[in-house]
Amino acid sequence: MAAAISVTPLVPYNRKRRPSAVKLRCYNGVEEDRKQWEKFYKRHQNKFFKDRHYLEKDWGHYFCHPKAGCGAGNTIFPLAKKYPQLYIHACDFSHHAVTLVKSHPNFRKDQINVFVCNIAEENLCDHIMPASVDIVTLVFTLSAVSPEKMPIIIQNLGLVLKPNGHVLFRDYAIGDYAQTMLMNKNQVISENFYFRGDGTCSYYFSEDFLSRLFERAGFVVVDVNTYNKEIINRARNITMQRRWIRAVFRRP
Ligand SMILES: C[S@@+](CC[C@H](N)C(=O)[O-])C[C@H]1O[C@@H](n2cnc3c(N)ncnc32)[C@H](O)[C@@H]1O
Repeated sequence: MAAAISVTPLVPYNRKRRPSAVKLRCYNGVEEDRKQWEKFYKRHQNKFFKDRHYLEKDWGHYFCHPKAGCGAGNTIFPLAKKYPQLYIHACDFSHHAVTLVKSHPNFRKDQINVFVCNIAEENLCDHIMPASVDIVTLVFTLSAVSPEKMPIIIQNLGLVLKPNGHVLFRDYAIGDYAQTMLMNKNQVISENFYFRGDGTCSYYFSEDFLSRLFERAGFVVVDVNTYNKEIINRARNITMQRRWIRAVFRRP
């Protein structure tokens, strides 16, 4: 799968830095993203992300119906445990991530259909029946994608959702501490889109941008809100203002 797009880096001019200190990186497309995530999972295995037990608190009432989607493990296993009647389709473009899901002690073949799929370039209907899914979870996944590819992904998800099915979305919000750090280090690819030190990318969403993205793909905005948490790291003597966005969209 060849890299299809290339985004010109928009690196803001910073008087305090000598040009040699400015880090420039062109966005090299989805295949490069996949390689970086393969490296990420090879290095961290399943130790980096914590299980997302908070999803049940916010969205528990959506899981009364079977079937959900997406994830490399930390979203699906807490949900699978809490709602044993769920049938889950889960995919990732990293082979490592999929292997980690399959080797998880709570993996059950009869409950979880996990497969490798690049949702920016492959049709999800090759793996899942069209219009058969009640809920899609999109948890810290869209931020890993270039903004140019986001509309294709949302359309792709829409194809497998039943009418009146929901997308449950959670991700990084604009103004997050990590965004400020990436901006200060000049790790900008384009507006609100950055590369991290480990080579993976990260987009920071505003409520407006996110709502428009889903509305243009024909979804209805059910709920969108940004929430903050102040996190104090005493060892490093820093206070971090973390910001996340959570939203629910409905396919009419
Ligand atoms: C921050 S992780 C979140 C994983 C999971 N949703 C969770 O809750 O922990 C982002 C994931 O998105 C995957 N990803 C990024 N772009 C993708 C694409 N185009 N197709 C499929 N997976 C992708 C990465 O491999 C990575 O596992």
